[in-house]
Amino acid sequence: MCGIVAHVGSRDCVPILLEGLAQLEYRGYDSAGLAVVSRSGGLRVHKAKTRVAGLGSSLPARFKGGPGIGHTRWATHGEPNDINAHPHVVGPVAVVHNGIIENADELRAKLIAEGAEFTSETDSEVLAHLIARAAGHAPAPGGARQADGAGQAGAGQAGAGQANGATDDLEGGADLEGGADLEEAVRQALTSVVGTYGIAVLDARYPDRVVAARNGSPVVLGIGNKEMFVASDVAALVRYTRQVVHLDDGEVATVRANGFHTSTLDARTTTHEPLLIEADLRSYTADGYTHFMRKEIHEQPRTVERALRGRLEERFNTAHLGGLNIDAREARAIQRVKILGCGSAYYAGQVGAQLIEELARIPADAETASEFRYRNPVVEADTLYIAVSQSGETHDTLAAVRELKRKGGRVIGVVNAVGSAIARECEGGVYLHAGPEISVTSTKTFTATCVVFSLLALHLGRIHDLSPADGARVIAGLHALPGQVTEILSEEERIAGLAKDFAGYPGMFFVGRVRGWPIAREGAQKLKEVSYLHAEAYPASELKHGPLALVGPDLPTVAVVPGDELRDKNLSTLGEIKARRGRILVVGHGTLDPRLADDVVEVPKNEPELDPILLSVPLQLLAYHAAVTLGNDVDKPRNLAKSVTVE
Ligand code: G6P
Repeated sequence: MCGIVAHVGSRDCVPILLEGLAQLEYRGYDSAGLAVVSRSGGLRVHKAKTRVAGLGSSLPARFKGGPGIGHTRWATHGEPNDINAHPHVVGPVAVVHNGIIENADELRAKLIAEGAEFTSETDSEVLAHLIARAAGHAPAPGGARQADGAGQAGAGQAGAGQANGATDDLEGGADLEGGADLEEAVRQALTSVVGTYGIAVLDARYPDRVVAARNGSPVVLGIGNKEMFVASDVAALVRYTRQVVHLDDGEVATVRANGFHTSTLDARTTTHEPLLIEADLRSYTADGYTHFMRKEIHEQPRTVERALRGRLEERFNTAHLGGLNIDAREARAIQRVKILGCGSAYYAGQVGAQLIEELARIPADAETASEFRYRNPVVEADTLYIAVSQSGETHDTLAAVRELKRKGGRVIGVVNAVGSAIARECEGGVYLHAGPEISVTSTKTFTATCVVFSLLALHLGRIHDLSPADGARVIAGLHALPGQVTEILSEEERIAGLAKDFAGYPGMFFVGRVRGWPIAREGAQKLKEVSYLHAEAYPASELKHGPLALVGPDLPTVAVVPGDELRDKNLSTLGEIKARRGRILVVGHGTLDPRLADDVVEVPKNEPELDPILLSVPLQLLAYHAAVTLGNDVDKPRNLAKSVTVE
């Protein structure tokens, strides 16, 4: 979803911006660009349809200066090309934007009528025009001066990895007279804007500052030693500082080398206590692995352990979750649990709902946050709502949280990113502590979310009717998980061999029943995200109600078959597939009649309620190796971005 980064300080900001953008590339990789104030006082702009590495290698040696802003794009309005790349420049003003301006067409028409000339198809360019205008830069006769370096450089046909954007040296500009102060200009411009934005604004006439603003798209300030940073995510900052401030929606910040000032859109000063973030720098590097996805799959024994650490209370056979903010009496009064999330977070929420229903006997279900927010949901006072999000910034999930709060619902978060919008806006919650997840497709945060839900289910269960003996049984199972994940990972080579085979088919079915069903869905999601093979998940029992028509020798099935009370039912489904000569890979427990499965990946057995966590791991490896076989860019799959901060 686009990454923005900015730096203000005495050193040359270009290496810092490039490094920051490289860390934010998971948010979008359609194009990249920089704007800096040069030593002579003008703007220097370089942008192109390229990856960040390509941008860096194509910069001329003279491209130096500061302050500066940078951007890596995930296209929403206008195809990925050099011209649509950010920053967008009008006169001395340059803007990078993450989000969507919903009334861009209307604003554009108005600005054109007033003499502005647009060069790109983006919604973001209206921001540059509005701000430049509010900052007192009148459009030149025949239109405002644009950064057209990229356009000149050739029709936006650069291939990934090599930039063909050109550097533009633009005017400095002493036309400060009559213009509002930059912060005030940004504020004025934003009053006419409807939509979401995280922006960083540079004006060559104010070479001591960058102005940032947030509405719906994350902006974090990093506090350094006589230097300041702005970014979409702490990932871009951790090399330079651990002290950060997250802007709230509707806030504007003026950032100078020696500090920052924040205020609301109506100019009321706001205050922030800087947050000290913990970060292991190795989490931001591939650390010897070819891909972050594989590294993160292999981190799972540790991330599962971290999600459990300090949270098991063996004395009472329960779990202790410090941030829940729900006492035992309130927990007893919960009549229903509703879990909301998108993508893998939703599937992990489905696992969570099953765990809560099984262990706590509280009716629970999961729903996609996007559907929930739009269907005018009935919000119940005795329902506990849980928002699940790795990034804590997913727009649909955040909107669902806000809709719930507006209707008086009680909502807690299960979130990985500390200090993120969802974490801040929920009444309480549980952090995953999985460390940053860099690969677009989630793996370690899926399992960590399931582990956190096991703890929550145990906690609620022990307050409701789960016996101490059953509590002890679940705790023993949780302790066994990290070692069992390690065992599964040792099967990687064999799973890679199977993935190679399956990559030759046009697509795959994934089936599972009850505990296996969300795992089948997550398995299909993983496969389609990174391998681009068609993958469809069905409840095993539904197969005969339609999709069986597709089964045959050309469409293999992955069947999730835990060794639980539904095993025999699952074996019948395998028989139905085999009768249609479909190839079957079983991921599950116990030996199988070879006539029912062509291949089996056996997973260590845990407690039935916790088995889904383990069953998901081979499917991650299957998707990863299928994608590698097909030569895909595993960490940055086509069309996807990790943190979807737009509708
Ligand atoms: C995007 C990603 C998915 C992810 C989902 C939710 O759609 O492509 O892989 O599961 O967002 O992200 P979140 O950060 O809210 O967990």
